[in-house]
Amino acid sequence: MTDAPDTSRISFTAHYTGHVWRRHGLGDAALATWQGQVLFGALTPFNKLGNRLQPGLNLEAMLLQRHRIIDALLEQAITGGATQVVEIAAGLSPRGLRFTRRHPDLHYLEFDLPGMAARKERLLSRVSDRSPRHLVTSGNALAADGEQSIAGRIATLLDPTAPTVVITEGLINYFPVEQAQQIWGHIVAGLKRARWGVYLSDIAHTPGGFRGAWLIRLFRQVLETTTRGATHFHFDSTDETRQALLDAGFNEATIHSPEDWRDRLELPPSPPQPLVHVIEARVSQDG
Ligand SMILES: C[S@@+](CC[C@H](N)C(=O)[O-])C[C@H]1O[C@@H](n2cnc3c(N)ncnc32)[C@H](O)[C@@H]1O
Repeated sequence: MTDAPDTSRISFTAHYTGHVWRRHGLGDAALATWQGQVLFGALTPFNKLGNRLQPGLNLEAMLLQRHRIIDALLEQAITGGATQVVEIAAGLSPRGLRFTRRHPDLHYLEFDLPGMAARKERLLSRVSDRSPRHLVTSGNALAADGEQSIAGRIATLLDPTAPTVVITEGLINYFPVEQAQQIWGHIVAGLKRARWGVYLSDIAHTPGGFRGAWLIRLFRQVLETTTRGATHFHFDSTDETRQALLDAGFNEATIHSPEDWRDRLELPPSPPQPLVHVIEARVSQDG
């Protein structure tokens, strides 16, 4: 087995997103943490300033857009026959609880670095109606092989041949392009034996030069200081992202803009250029 790098420096950001999900009725009381509340308070001035500069120019709006679109695409995949979900870097996401309550037969595997996985397991163990099919496992999305890898966990904890959805949310932009592409390759490898598989993820592109875009640069600096590492915009356009997914081995890829979903979902406004898009990429045995 190859040694995967330790990227736990970003794990604490899951407390912030966890708090946002809960604030907007997506979360579960069992997943609330005091760290989430503190981080949310600390970033409130950014969000308020962004809203004043440009409607939709704030972190909370971006997070809600990505979470709700991924939820809608996941629901679509389950309706289409997917029976299992692997949420990589799940953090304190309540999606596993929501979807296993809604779909009692669904197998849902949360996959995160050991510290966050242990915390999530502790929090979920207090949920009285937790589904027996809702599991948490430790793993590393950067592991190329071995039991801690995506393919390793799918092979041992799920049915590797069943139609499967793999999700990454709030992960990809923390990694340089080479590592992001490695993760995509590992997901393709994990889905190789499945009849078909869908990959869902948010991705932020290089921001355009609209009014207030300086706030994104400032926020990025704060995020990079607190997570002690860089964040990365890999691609300038959705076409480049699509091509990179095909290069990683997916057979099809669609990049969704929040604007495509505005008539179907309750979404906060976007700045003139959306800050976040959602990837829907597919692999299937028939190619
Ligand atoms: C920004 S949080 C996102 C959490 C959650 N997906 C959400 O949107 O609320 C980032 C998560 O990535 C996890 N993480 C970081 N590096 C990872 C890796 N190499 N493999 C798996 N998970 C990782 C962290 O532990 C943390 O839970």
